Amino acid sequence: MNTAAEAADKSPIVIAHRGASGYRPEHTFMSYSMAMEQGADFVEPDLVVTKDGVLVARHDIYLSDSTDVAAHPEFADRKRVFEGHDDWYVFDFTLAELRTLKARQPRPKRGTMFDGIEPVPTFDEIVDFAIAARKAGKTAGFYIEMKRPAMFTERGLDPTEKLIAGFKRLADAGVPLYFQCFESDYILKVKGRMPAPLIWLIEGKEDRSNGTWSLEVPLDLMAGKVDGIGPNKALLVDSKGEDSGLVAEAHRLGMQVHVWTVRDDQVPVGIASSRQELKWLFAHGVDGVFADFPDTAIDVRNNVSLVSPERMTDD
Ligand code: G3P
Ligand code: CA
Repeated sequence: MNTAAEAADKSPIVIAHRGASGYRPEHTFMSYSMAMEQGADFVEPDLVVTKDGVLVARHDIYLSDSTDVAAHPEFADRKRVFEGHDDWYVFDFTLAELRTLKARQPRPKRGTMFDGIEPVPTFDEIVDFAIAARKAGKTAGFYIEMKRPAMFTERGLDPTEKLIAGFKRLADAGVPLYFQCFESDYILKVKGRMPAPLIWLIEGKEDRSNGTWSLEVPLDLMAGKVDGIGPNKALLVDSKGEDSGLVAEAHRLGMQVHVWTVRDDQVPVGIASSRQELKWLFAHGVDGVFADFPDTAIDVRNNVSLVSPERMTDD
């Protein structure tokens, strides 16, 4: 187990969020490869499940943002409302159908130069890719999230056995691993079978009257049961933009803290730059950051003095 005490003795890890997704369409091999080339400690796949039960990498259960599905007239009648959102859903497509789509950049300001090139990768392909990279001497690990396991299981698409089989292949090959999930029940379901440290993702809830965020359940719900938490970065600051104490509380409970998500092209209101945001996060003791631009996070971690960090001003 990677304990919080062990993590405190090490540099914070940089997790390439959906690959180097600031530069390439998220969840493509070009995005994952670029993250490795930049020196990310971990590459982050998010996993969802197709109609025929295959685990594939997408952040969303819907497809319009990150693929060209809307340009495929043969799938026009698959569009439907689910959970209040009108879209195309991964669980309505077989793998063969999904593979006719191509990945695209979901964020309009990031450019479309690499759109339309790669299909949606399967988890099996990602496992093969990670093992091949390891054999080629690459050191990056894989920090894998299962999206919405309860919803997929309700639909008859329980991902558990395929997920654990993939993790076992990766672990046997010596690939460094984490498993992450928002659903605490699911983490407990796989605990003991998953050959990886377990990270409980926490979104929190916003008080719209003052813009502050707080936990919906206390951290100690999972203390001793997981290796760490992956909190929304908004949970780390109070209404004045100062330290909320969450990192210290997690460390007191023996949990690492890997915070999400830092983006060079989207910084919180009042923050000068992602570099300043990263400097503040590292200075306040996080054990890792999810970053869309991993090179920036690596550079700040390695080269920027953390003395007297102010959150609101640049270096
Ligand atoms: O998994 C960490 C972070 O990625 C959680 O947010 O929604 O981007 O997957 P999301
Ligand atoms: Ca994720």
